[in-house]
Amino acid sequence: MRFVELIGKKRDGGELSSEEMQHLVRGYVSGDVPDYQMAAWAMAVFFRGMTAEETASLTLAMAQSGDQVNLNGIQGVKVDKHSTGGVGDKTTLIIAPLVAAAGVPVAKMSGRGLGHTGGTIDKLESITGFQIEMTRERFLSQVNEIGMAVIGQSGNLAPADKKLYALRDVTGTVESMPLIASSIMSKKIAAGADAIVLDVKMGSGAFMKTLDAAEELAVAMVEIGSRVGRSTSAIISDMDQPLGFAIGNALEVAEAIQTLQGNGPDDLTELCLMLSSHMVVLGGKADGLKEARKLLEDKLRSGEALGKFRELVSAQGGDVCIVENPELLPRAERLIEVKATEVGYVQAIEAEQLGLAAMRLGAGRATKDDAIDYAVGITLRKKVGDSVEAGETLAVLHAQAGSEALEERVAQVRDAYTLQQEKPQQRPLLLSIVTAAGIDRLAE
Ligand code: URA
Repeated sequence: MRFVELIGKKRDGGELSSEEMQHLVRGYVSGDVPDYQMAAWAMAVFFRGMTAEETASLTLAMAQSGDQVNLNGIQGVKVDKHSTGGVGDKTTLIIAPLVAAAGVPVAKMSGRGLGHTGGTIDKLESITGFQIEMTRERFLSQVNEIGMAVIGQSGNLAPADKKLYALRDVTGTVESMPLIASSIMSKKIAAGADAIVLDVKMGSGAFMKTLDAAEELAVAMVEIGSRVGRSTSAIISDMDQPLGFAIGNALEVAEAIQTLQGNGPDDLTELCLMLSSHMVVLGGKADGLKEARKLLEDKLRSGEALGKFRELVSAQGGDVCIVENPELLPRAERLIEVKATEVGYVQAIEAEQLGLAAMRLGAGRATKDDAIDYAVGITLRKKVGDSVEAGETLAVLHAQAGSEALEERVAQVRDAYTLQQEKPQQRPLLLSIVTAAGIDRLAE
């Protein structure tokens, strides 16, 4: 089978068999298929699309292209969670201990942040002593002992996706729904979970700008899950503003602790409860979403979820004192208030701009080798729908004494806020649920 024939088949709207897809992906990883041929194929996919069967074949071929984590040594149904990325998204820090407290084992591999979104691993490393590397044996035994472990992603998970994603990035083929769906799912499948809950973000700060597009992506991923034997559900949530109030590593850990104490921001708490409820149902610890939610609310109220977080920090060598005293986390030297110049209501907050401002303060990386300052970031004082007086504080920058271009950062954060004179309609946070049974629109 010649690679050029596979490109031609896709260009003409044909369907590649699973053998052909394996051949193509293996060839690409080994170097037999050069970038120019793969780019031509990706562009053909961009215009022609792929059938559900083809998308599943591509996903499996990419999942099988490198390490595949075997979680069979862990008892119970292993349910993983994935978010399509967001600013201020600290849900893993809350959901992992919450569902572990409900009896669902969490064997989580997480990534570092790059660009305007933060990574769970960086957030956890803001806790003094917290280790994100351990042997596979220790990883499995920790999950069996305390119900959870969070480690850094293995270097060789789905290398075909890594290579293809980098190629798509420079050939105008990122925005292909089946390619995005298979890219995300290939990494989750290689990470070994039995079931997957996806948090698909929609809005100006997200990959998917409309609800229809977010649903299309969610349906494609749920379909892949069904075809490869991993039950998958997706929640579509609004990403027209950051989640919660805190952006920046230690600031987000503190907000996660507050949420585990039952005093977190409403939007963050609600999204965590919704995602966790689906995980608990897929993990077989409740018969339905209502029962799961009640169980999880009890785990928050009783302090068991917070206790699980303490166990995680202790097991991975972190300073457990921060759980009771989050003020012991790294703190920035300067607090700079960003004030409104006019009166009005907050209509929107450009999450991406805030993420970029936090990155420039030192909370994130522009390139993968940059060092991170765990203490710095931004806390929001105003969110969408809030009324604002001229001169009132919109947000606070947490910066170091020597930080450069602070005036620019202040302007960037102020400009991220759009104010209007009319009180905007409250927009729902949770928009749709997509399962193998279909799409359930919550917001109509
Ligand atoms: N995230 C991924 O992992 N892959 C994509 O293709 C897009 C977003």
